[in-house]
Amino acid sequence: MGLFIGIAGGPRHGFTELYVGEVLRHIQTLSPDSSTRLISLAGKDIRSCDDCKACHKRDLKRLCKYNDDWFDIVKNFLDEDLAGLVVGTPVYTYSTTAIIRAFMERFTAFNQRQYFPDLHQEPPPDWSRVVSGVVAVGGGRNGGQEMAMSSLVNWLLTNGFPVVGAYPATSIGVSAYEPTGNTEVSDVRGLRLTRMLAKNMLALRTTMSSPPTVSPENYHAETDTTLIGTKIGRQNLTKGDHQ
Ligand SMILES: Cc1cc2nc3c(=O)[nH]c(=O)nc-3n(C[C@H](O)[C@H](O)[C@H](O)COP(=O)(O)O)c2cc1C
Repeated sequence: MGLFIGIAGGPRHGFTELYVGEVLRHIQTLSPDSSTRLISLAGKDIRSCDDCKACHKRDLKRLCKYNDDWFDIVKNFLDEDLAGLVVGTPVYTYSTTAIIRAFMERFTAFNQRQYFPDLHQEPPPDWSRVVSGVVAVGGGRNGGQEMAMSSLVNWLLTNGFPVVGAYPATSIGVSAYEPTGNTEVSDVRGLRLTRMLAKNMLALRTTMSSPPTVSPENYHAETDTTLIGTKIGRQNLTKGDHQ
């Protein structure tokens, strides 16, 4: 079905890698013609964005002034075969780790192509058919997994990735609990969620045979400003079946 990438966003080779890897393993089992690639941020040098705007003047071959490990990882996101993305983080202080935060911030080099299309010949990449899902592993049972996952989900959505959750488990992703000090995987529910997420990602990808209706290039063309200046009140509602 294409290439599925997993990003494990912790500074060590810990549980997050195992859980993200488990989602990829289920994808591979359920869809044997897919390929998978697990990328760990452990040991990587990734600077945070300092809003210097240098990316306004760069092309897609070298997006940022920093020559660290970020772009080598991001090259995988430009693979034409890319079908899916799993992003995982350990929970640090009820949020993501600093390194995946830095990794996400640097995508502003892509985002600003959407905001300032006149500055660039190339539009931002179109990830609207790359299905995605998230993973968070905490050392507390209720240690902030949801907040960490929300951060990842919001980043995925703002970059145009469709996101699925681990339904029917009423979880927005794989929320795992590995008590601090654990050295072996122990969370049965967390593991169950990895399979649900894999299934949901594949199910959505399967429905995506038609091309996207709104591409990033159309962002400005799609802006309809008819409503600007309209006063509030029922008389100004557009026609339709309003209650
Ligand atoms: C700096 C730091 C902050 C942490 N903050 C939290 C937290 O807020 N909530 C939580 O549940 N666990 C917290 N933990 C525990 C980690 O989430 C837990 O050990 C997790 O398994 C780490 O993922 P890893 O095994 O992939 O490294 C923290 C750990 C560290 C090192």
